[in-house]
This record gives sequence, C-alpha cells and structure tokens, in this order.
Amino acid sequence: MVLSEYKTALVTGASSGIGAACVRALREKGLDVVALARREDRLAPLAKETGCRIMVQDLMDTAAIYTELPSLNADILVNNAGLGRGYDGFLKSTPDEIDQMVNLNVSAAFHVVRAVAEGMAERKSGHIVQIGSIAALYPIGLPVYGGTKGAIHMFSQHFRIELAGTGVRHTEICPGRIATEFFDSAFKAEKDRDAFLSGYSPLQPSDIAAAVLFAVDTPWHVNVSTIELTPTEQAPGGALIEQARPK
Ligand SMILES: NC(=O)c1ccc[n+]([C@@H]2O[C@H](COP(=O)([O-])OP(=O)(O)OC[C@H]3O[C@@H](n4cnc5c(N)ncnc54)[C@H](OP(=O)(O)O)[C@@H]3O)[C@@H](O)[C@H]2O)c1
Repeated sequence: MVLSEYKTALVTGASSGIGAACVRALREKGLDVVALARREDRLAPLAKETGCRIMVQDLMDTAAIYTELPSLNADILVNNAGLGRGYDGFLKSTPDEIDQMVNLNVSAAFHVVRAVAEGMAERKSGHIVQIGSIAALYPIGLPVYGGTKGAIHMFSQHFRIELAGTGVRHTEICPGRIATEFFDSAFKAEKDRDAFLSGYSPLQPSDIAAAVLFAVDTPWHVNVSTIELTPTEQAPGGALIEQARPK
C-alpha cells in the first residue's frame, strides 16, 4: 500500500501542534481523516478548514477507546496525543504530573494501538505511526517524560516483530524540540519555557507531518521503522559534570 491506496486516517491529539499539522497534511492528500482530541472548540475550526471528521474524546476513558475506535476501520493511525509535565525536574514534580504523563503517553497510547491494530491485521493492511521523542533514545534529563517515550520506543520495537507477516507497517518518529503548546504546561514558570524555546530555530509541526507522509507513502515492501529529527541547532546527549561531594 502507498498513501493513495489508504482511505481513512485517525489522528489522536489533533486539536493542536503536530496532530493538527498531520490532519492538514493527510487531508491535502485526499484521505478521510478523523481528528480526535478533547477540545471541541479547537477541532471544529480544523474541521471547517480541512474537511476532517472530528471525534471529541478523552483518551483517559479506556472503555471509550475500545467502543469508539475499532469501527473507524482506520488504515493509518497517527498515535500522537501526549503531554509533558515537570520539565523543572523530577524531584519537583507532583504525583499528579507523574500520573498524567504515564497514563496518557503510555497506557492510553497502548490502548489506542490495541483498539485499532487488530482490525488492520484482519484486513492485512494498515500503518501505525507513533509520535515518540528523542527523549526515548537519549538521556536528556527528563526522567518521567523520557521514561514514557522510552516505553513507546521499546513497544514499537517489540510490536514490529508481532506485526511481521500481517501486512501492517509500523513507524516510530522521534522528534527533538518543536514549537507547540506542549511547552505551555511543561514548565511551571513561563520564563523557563521562553528560555527553552528561544535562541535557535525549533522544528515546526509541519516538519513532523512531512515525516509522517514520507513514512506512509513508501512502497508497500518498505517499512520505515524509526525516524529521528531535530532542529539543526539541537544535538541530544553530552556529558555533564557537577561536583557533588560535600566540601
Ligand atoms: N513539542 C515537542 O517538542 C515534542 C517533541 C517530541 C515529541 N513530542 C510529542 O508530540 C506529541 C504531540 O505534542 P505537541 O507538541 O503537538 O503538543 P500539543 O500541541 O500540546 O498537542 C497535544 C495534543 O494531545 C491532546 N491531548 C492531551 N490530553 C489528551 C487526552 N486526555 N485525550 C485526548 N487528547 C489529549 C491535546 O488535545 P486536547 O487538549 O484538546 O485534548 C493536543 O491535541 C506528543 O506525544 C509529544 O510528547 C513533542
């Protein structure tokens, strides 16, 4: 399958950022796109602009995932909904922030795939695109967020083994910093967010949507397993020395 042979795409976290950009890109290619998120006031204008269908749903409602998503018969899933909290440090994070990240970035992401992929395998056709992070691949000092995206990375690696022979392709996209609303709530102080996003050219949501289109439009025999992309001015990793011994 290439993109022109797919009919329906489901994009989670479609009300802003990467998700909204993926909706626009997939609609431009003529797909029937279902845009899922909680904020109807953000989805409605996107539907008016692009002609996508909208699904107002909270992915914390596990039962609704299993009742609503399988019947969409999605050919493409962009498993994108996710959040970051506690960028100020794990030792300052609240129990609720930890729960929010694990519940959405890991549990809900797994449930969405479980609900959608079975039908894909039965139809012997489909493409799952996980929106992960470079925090899944490198230690960049985000223990919980990186841990959740690390879980998606290993899930992706393991699940591809199970998918082999089903006709369902699977791609994990690992971006660096993108200018989105994500950072509005990742930091407690606005000035820390502004410092995080200034002084360089971050990725744009449309850059990630272009990577999604590339992956799903390769010839059927090609599975693009992982795409890593960062701003040109960002490189993950590095060595940090901080003196700890009491003087
Ligand atoms: N921004 C970055 O630098 C960056 C880098 C690497 C990876 N990522 C990943 O990219 C993905 C998208 O992030 P973004 O940067 O585009 O951020 P964003 O603009 O904040 O988008 C997050 C989306 O998730 C949705 N969402 C949040 N909680 C939800 C819930 N309980 N149920 C359903 N939808 C929910 C939001 O919609 P509602 O609030 O309307 O529900 C929103 O559409 C995330 O998985 C993130 O971890 C981001």
